[in-house]
Amino acid sequence: MQIFDSIDSLQTWLKEIQKADKSIGFVPTMGALHEGHITLVNQSNQDNDITVCSVFVNPTQFNNPEDLDKYPRDIKKDLKLLEAANCDVVFLPTVAAMYPDGEKSEDFEFGGLENQMEGKYRPGHFDGVATIVSRFFDIVKPTKAYFGEKDFQQLRIIQELVKQKDYHIQIIPMPIARERSGLALSSRNTRLTPTYKEAAPEIFRILNLIKDWKNDFSVNQTIIKVEEEFLKTPFELEYILICDELSLEPISNWDQSENIRAFIAAYAGDVRLIDNLKIK
Ligand code: PAF
Repeated sequence: MQIFDSIDSLQTWLKEIQKADKSIGFVPTMGALHEGHITLVNQSNQDNDITVCSVFVNPTQFNNPEDLDKYPRDIKKDLKLLEAANCDVVFLPTVAAMYPDGEKSEDFEFGGLENQMEGKYRPGHFDGVATIVSRFFDIVKPTKAYFGEKDFQQLRIIQELVKQKDYHIQIIPMPIARERSGLALSSRNTRLTPTYKEAAPEIFRILNLIKDWKNDFSVNQTIIKVEEEFLKTPFELEYILICDELSLEPISNWDQSENIRAFIAAYAGDVRLIDNLKIK
């Protein structure tokens, strides 16, 4: 496994790969890797000649400095996992290399995709994500790039970014990896206290209830039922939204869209968890 920490050395190496017309799969991460990330690497290995994985905690996508400080980091373990997964290249750039003009995001507009949910509750988050992902795309020039559906809004925004910037990159969405209990895998799970860890599968259980409730209740009534259900858990619900999968606009009746997904963000103490489920 090759490890690069400078853009130049990575690009020199990748030039040979591109000259040989080999396909490059790209898995961008912020480290603290888990089985979910590894399924992305495995898929990339299957689909491409070479897999490049970046590990970079991107400061501009954190609206809360404390969240950035507390974001779990374990590069030794990450490298071990990537090596075991047969990842070909790991890119570990510095903040200075990725942000030579200072830690600022560019301004993006994604036709409203960025206004709901994470965009609303984490102002500037998607400008930060789009800035770093477009910089990575410019450096790595992948054939395919892999994004988990756990960050479904991020996935939709990256699909839009690719259109806007006319990148010739195929975005591959990957299903949410879950623990047996149903808890969606997340780097943040390492920060859950035992009480929250034990209760965390409740989030997936409640998401699944929406599938049943949709047969008997309106969208609004369902949302109220979700809010009531959360009051029985130790979590503090930040939002529950039921949206059209493409526009991410909240729907008001079940027949409004053929593709509906429910989205939840909730606090487990000071750990913020998100999850989502396809409802229709
Ligand atoms: O999903 C993530 O881990 C990050 O948002 C990403 C795509 C690596 C950009 O920093």
